[in-house]
Amino acid sequence: MILRLVVLSLMFAAVHATADDERAHVNYMLHCQGCHLPQAEGFAGRVPPMKDFVGFFLHSAEGRDFLIRVPGVAHSALDDFEITELMNWLLQSFSAAQLPATFTPFTVDEVAGLRRDPESAPEAARNEILSKIAADLPTLAVALAHEE
Ligand code: HEC
Repeated sequence: MILRLVVLSLMFAAVHATADDERAHVNYMLHCQGCHLPQAEGFAGRVPPMKDFVGFFLHSAEGRDFLIRVPGVAHSALDDFEITELMNWLLQSFSAAQLPATFTPFTVDEVAGLRRDPESAPEAARNEILSKIAADLPTLAVALAHEE
């Protein structure tokens, strides 16, 4: 009996230690989609679109950090592992084309540290980060011009 419990809990630990797209998608539906919408298209003027866009943030270190420090992510009820899994899934599912070739997935330790330092002025931070990236990335400059 005890052995069976040990085996079961080891199996559970193994399952949870591996990223799972299905679980990430369900967490997105439960925790993010209400504001960001099913295809991450957002609401003009209220919630920024992540579709074909959010990958641009990975072109700078501040941008990478911002994606976890933004209040909707930092203050989420999801745990560090679930946020890491969800963000890596989200970037590949909604915005793979905008990611830099050098992109490496978020790690749980990285996410754990960043979300304990939430961004208090997300709109100003977002604008500053994106305009810096756009200075070296014409495709982002074009996307921003369309957003306005
Ligand atoms: C209550 C509505 C709401 C919920 C729920 C929410 N967000 Fe957001 N999200 C926003 C708004 C508004 C912004 C724009 C920045 C800001 O004002 O915080 C944003 C910004 C972001 C950004 C930065 C992208 C950018 O272009 O600025 C990411 C990444 C993000 N959210 C991911 C998530 C994830 C992942 C979840 C679910 C765990 C989530 N959000 C839940 C409203 C929400």
